[in-house]
Amino acid sequence: MEKPLEKRFTTDEEWKRIAEKKRIKIRKYSLADYPSVREILQASKLFYEPNDSESNLRRVIGDDPDSILVAVENRRVVGTAFTESGFIPFIFRVAVHPEYRNRGIGEKLMQSAEEVLKNKGHSEANILVAIDESENQLRYERQGYEKGHTYVWMEKKL
Ligand SMILES: CC(C)(COP(=O)(O)OP(=O)(O)OC[C@H]1O[C@@H](n2cnc3c(N)ncnc32)[C@H](O)[C@@H]1OP(=O)(O)O)[C@@H](O)C(=O)NCCC(=O)NCCS
Repeated sequence: MEKPLEKRFTTDEEWKRIAEKKRIKIRKYSLADYPSVREILQASKLFYEPNDSESNLRRVIGDDPDSILVAVENRRVVGTAFTESGFIPFIFRVAVHPEYRNRGIGEKLMQSAEEVLKNKGHSEANILVAIDESENQLRYERQGYEKGHTYVWMEKKL
C-alpha cells in the first residue's frame, strides 16, 4: 500500500518562516558595524574586550575580510558569526540580538560561516559549546554537529 504523504501543504507558519529568512541578508563585517556587533555580543554574554575590541576586529578583517559575518535586517545589524580558518577551522561568536531570536537567523549565520570555511578549502567546521549549555549542544546536533572530546579550558596571561 502506498505510504500517505505526511505533509501536503506548506503551513502558514512555514510560509512566515520562509519570508522572514528571505528578509535576512548575511554579509561581511565592515568597520561601521562595530557598535552593533559589540552590543549584540554584550547582550549575548559573549563579549570579551581583549578579543572583541574595535581595534582587534579591524586587525582581524585586515588579515582576513571574510572572517566576520553579520546578519542584516532592514539595514540593522542583528547577528554575528566569526570564523577562524588557520590550523583548525572554527566558528565562534555566533550571536543574535535578543529581540531577533527564534527566527532562523542563527541557523543562517551558521550556514554562511560554514560556507566561508568550505570556500577556504576546509572539509569540517568546529564549534566550542560550554558544557552547561545543553540547549546549544542540542541545537548544533540538529544542525549536523557531533560531540567531540571534552576538554578543560586552561589559560595563562602573557
Ligand atoms: C544561539 C543563538 C545564536 C541562536 O540564534 P537564533 O537566531 O535564535 O537561532 P535560530 O532562530 O536559527 O534557531 C532557534 C530556534 O528557532 C527556530 N526557528 C527558526 N526559524 C524560525 C522562525 N522563522 N520562526 C520561529 N522559529 C524559528 C528553530 O527551529 C530553532 O529551534 P530549536 O531551538 O528547536 O533548534 C542565540 O540564541 C544567541 O545569540 N544566544 C546567545 C549567544 C550564544 O549562546 N551563542 C552560541 C554560543 S555556542
